[in-house]
Amino acid sequence: MLKQNHMWTEEELNGNISYNNDTADISEKNSWHNLFESPQWILMNPAEEIVDFYHTYLDSPSRQFRNRTNLQGNKLHDLGCGGGRHLYYFAEYGFDLTGSDLSTNAINFTKFELERRKMNARLNLCPMTDLPYENGEFDITISRAVINHGTLQDMKKVVYEVARTTRKGGLFFVTFSSERASDWKKGTEVLEDVTYIPAEGPEKGLIHTFLSAANAAALLEPFFIIDKLYISEHPPLMPNAPGATDPNEYFGSEYVLIGIRR
Ligand SMILES: C[S@@+](CC[C@H](N)C(=O)[O-])C[C@H]1O[C@@H](n2cnc3c(N)ncnc32)[C@H](O)[C@@H]1O
Repeated sequence: MLKQNHMWTEEELNGNISYNNDTADISEKNSWHNLFESPQWILMNPAEEIVDFYHTYLDSPSRQFRNRTNLQGNKLHDLGCGGGRHLYYFAEYGFDLTGSDLSTNAINFTKFELERRKMNARLNLCPMTDLPYENGEFDITISRAVINHGTLQDMKKVVYEVARTTRKGGLFFVTFSSERASDWKKGTEVLEDVTYIPAEGPEKGLIHTFLSAANAAALLEPFFIIDKLYISEHPPLMPNAPGATDPNEYFGSEYVLIGIRR
């Protein structure tokens, strides 16, 4: 008989998860903090997958989808908001917004840009593994290209935190690096075939975990019904940023998952 879920133990499902809770250590290794010092590393337009998510699920959801979910409000949390591009996007549509990130550069930039655009969002400087929010506070959580910056154990803690803070029937949009990405298996191997720390390139020193589609789904499954899972593949998004990887060597590949909180 197949084990019900190969990613989670019974203990972990109850919140007993080992993870790195040394915030100073995580902050120091978060190379995105330094990248945000150059405006060329800050994307301002929303990612295609986020625009698609908004239109398909929030703006004009199908009747079948509405039967599967229980969306009531419009409180949205952007976990790992970076330079805030998705906050600006959802602000245009009147969402009640919260952004969190562990980088002071990211939070300061986003704060400045929100003020400049006369937009509102609550911002918090915090690690993704310990979210300072109430149970079931958000209707929607989005997290693009963030959660893979942790070990598998860290990622479980984040999924647990997202599940805790997203209300039943709410939505979770998330991306995970896929094993097809060009940076898979580059650098120091922390967990065989899964987790690596690149020794060079813009994200040098930052932990990266890569998943198969089956593992990505299994990570969410206990807490979320997987409504959609697809792959998004692309050339470098910031080829002209200082220190960017050679476009001939880079290939971005991520699984995009949309889950409904059980
Ligand atoms: C590739 S950027 C993506 C930013 C944004 N989601 C976007 O799509 O433009 C990764 C973000 O994750 C943040 N990050 C990395 N590790 C984190 C952690 N442990 N806790 C919270 N945020 C983290 C970085 O500071 C950075 O803003």
